Amino acid sequence: MRRLLPLIGTPASHPGGRSALTCRFRCGDACFQEVPNTSANQYVGDVIAGALSRRSMMRAAAVVTVAAGAGTAAVARAPQAQAQAATGTPYAAQPTAQPTAQSTSSRRGARGLRFTPVAPNTTDAVVTPDGYRQNVVIRWGEPILRGAPAFDPENQTAEAQAGQFGYNNDFLALLPLPGERGRQLLVANHEYTDEILMFRGYDAASPTRRQVEVAWAAHGLSAVVVEEDRGTGRLTAVTRHHLNRRVTATTEFRLTGPAAGSALLRTSADPTGRKVLGTLNNCSGGTTPWGTTLHGEENFNQYFANGSRPTDTRYGIGTGATERKWERFDRRFDIAQEPNEVHRFGYVVEFDPYDPASTPRKHTALGRFKHEAATVRLTDDGRPVVYTGDDERFDYFYKFVGSKRMRHGTSRSAREHNLSLLDEGTLYVAKLTGDSPATDIDGSGKLPGDGEFDGGGSWIPLATATAGGAVSHVEGMTAEEVFVFTRLAGDKVGATKMDRPEDIQPSPHTGKVYVALTNNSNRGKTGYAPADEANPRNANKHGHILELTERHSRPESLTFGWSLFLVAGDPADSSTYFAGFPKDRVSPISCPDNVAFDPHGNLWISTDGNQLGSHDGLFGVATRGDRRGELKQFLTVPTGAETCGPIVQDRRVLVAVQHPGEVDGASVEKPASTWPDGPGKIVRPAVVAVWRADGCDIGI
Ligand code: FEO
Ligand code: CA
Ligand code: CA
Ligand code: CA
Repeated sequence: MRRLLPLIGTPASHPGGRSALTCRFRCGDACFQEVPNTSANQYVGDVIAGALSRRSMMRAAAVVTVAAGAGTAAVARAPQAQAQAATGTPYAAQPTAQPTAQSTSSRRGARGLRFTPVAPNTTDAVVTPDGYRQNVVIRWGEPILRGAPAFDPENQTAEAQAGQFGYNNDFLALLPLPGERGRQLLVANHEYTDEILMFRGYDAASPTRRQVEVAWAAHGLSAVVVEEDRGTGRLTAVTRHHLNRRVTATTEFRLTGPAAGSALLRTSADPTGRKVLGTLNNCSGGTTPWGTTLHGEENFNQYFANGSRPTDTRYGIGTGATERKWERFDRRFDIAQEPNEVHRFGYVVEFDPYDPASTPRKHTALGRFKHEAATVRLTDDGRPVVYTGDDERFDYFYKFVGSKRMRHGTSRSAREHNLSLLDEGTLYVAKLTGDSPATDIDGSGKLPGDGEFDGGGSWIPLATATAGGAVSHVEGMTAEEVFVFTRLAGDKVGATKMDRPEDIQPSPHTGKVYVALTNNSNRGKTGYAPADEANPRNANKHGHILELTERHSRPESLTFGWSLFLVAGDPADSSTYFAGFPKDRVSPISCPDNVAFDPHGNLWISTDGNQLGSHDGLFGVATRGDRRGELKQFLTVPTGAETCGPIVQDRRVLVAVQHPGEVDGASVEKPASTWPDGPGKIVRPAVVAVWRADGCDIGI
């Protein structure tokens, strides 16, 4: 409820804990649209129930608005009271779940997690455990290319923005820079723009060409070299390094793989179907073993106007104008004028940060949907396996198994070969079954009789791409259709409808794969899929994390076992589960989103849309040993922000603070946050580094 500050009083009741402003700009109000997956696949009574669900959603909205009023008081507490919340009881803000003895034992924990957990709070700052320090590495608008001007938010231009760090940093990768001591190469996604917080006096009904072009230049990716300050963990950007680069909504990309050149991808500007301008809504991503980065194009639907085809509907593309009105300034964003342009977004992007002249690629072999992220591991014989989730309520998660082996080395030919690895292979979608009787799953989150939400699953092949062509495994769809309309292929083969698959991360230590499922307010509502063993709570507000074990621990296996590792929420809530760890010794967590591993094998989880009244945060949890399931909050982010892009190294934690100040009713004139630069300065998304004041390793 924390984002519902009484600034203008916009009614706010958005599922999943986000502010209305975030929903509007980030995902095009995805949670207020009908769920795009209306396939009969495990559904009952879609059409009638769809109308009912809209009414019940509106009733729910009325309830939440009342709760928002109560939340306002909490947010408006004096800074002193907030500080107490931030430093008080370690595990919970409410005096329900934590005997005080824990504050003394809380520094103990699994190796890598020995810190006093940060209590839930609503402080407009990045709050870290005692003994840790932080700095802002880079902010929106800081110049990174030669010739780029200093940030001037009152007079921002597209040309300036194209040389500066973009808006709303999300995924982060840190890559080695051999030969440059103390330096690393940071790659960041810029998922989306929030024009109300970027432009003074922004008029949403009639954005100007200047504003629209700034927004195009603020999307995309940044590569920027960062340098560590010896003696502290401080990290600062090296401006004008030759590897620094910006990719924007107008940068040239190559479409590669089985659908490249297809009639479905040809437009009037590109009759080859192989060249596309820009990348949009890059959410999370991954780093490949061959030294490139992957970036998921997520809510691309919201940028395209006048959708009309069933395929548009399945991707949540609206029938009218868009929020940002880009279609007024470039006809390619108007489906009525350029029907295939939208088919050229929704892919996994591959970027070679070591070659500033390279043309980034969009890989059609990994399918087209709202890719949250893409994480790669290798088979024993060196072929890539990529996990990627489709972040939509009741949508699916996928795996791609490549058929070509990675080459080692950094020669030009090796790099060129490796850049083609994701063009040939088979795309699969996940189907899960529980091992407990269906009557044991009552939608409350109560554990079934065998004591675990668990079962088995299979990877169902959708299509295979080879050097000579592509073969569909889905009846009634060509291979090209499978790769471009992948959601429909998943529908046809009966994939399992999940509670918003977000980031997926295999453990480098155990090979087990962790799938974050952020929430699904519609689970179990009339007309929607009911709870099942893999998604066991109806109206799932807080999300869960699934642990998947590939058969024989081989990434390319076609079957797997799974269990729920974490069922999120306030530990005092009986529906939560922390891998069996005592619930009076864990931090509350809500809406898991991005996941990453630290060098010790602990899973780190960032959240998006905390539904427990606290700011979003970053958490670490042991996945092995007798502390498995012991979850501890490491930091919280400022008002309105989401925690993204966590990277946990031995001595440093990096997070992307995305959309700070994005609170309903906020604007440049009425900011809801003063982070990171204090009162009177425009709020700016930024990357933050955290380290230990004594120079020791994180959590040791
Ligand atoms: Fe961009 Fe699925 O969060
Ligand atoms: Ca995300
Ligand atoms: Ca079971
Ligand atoms: Ca998310």
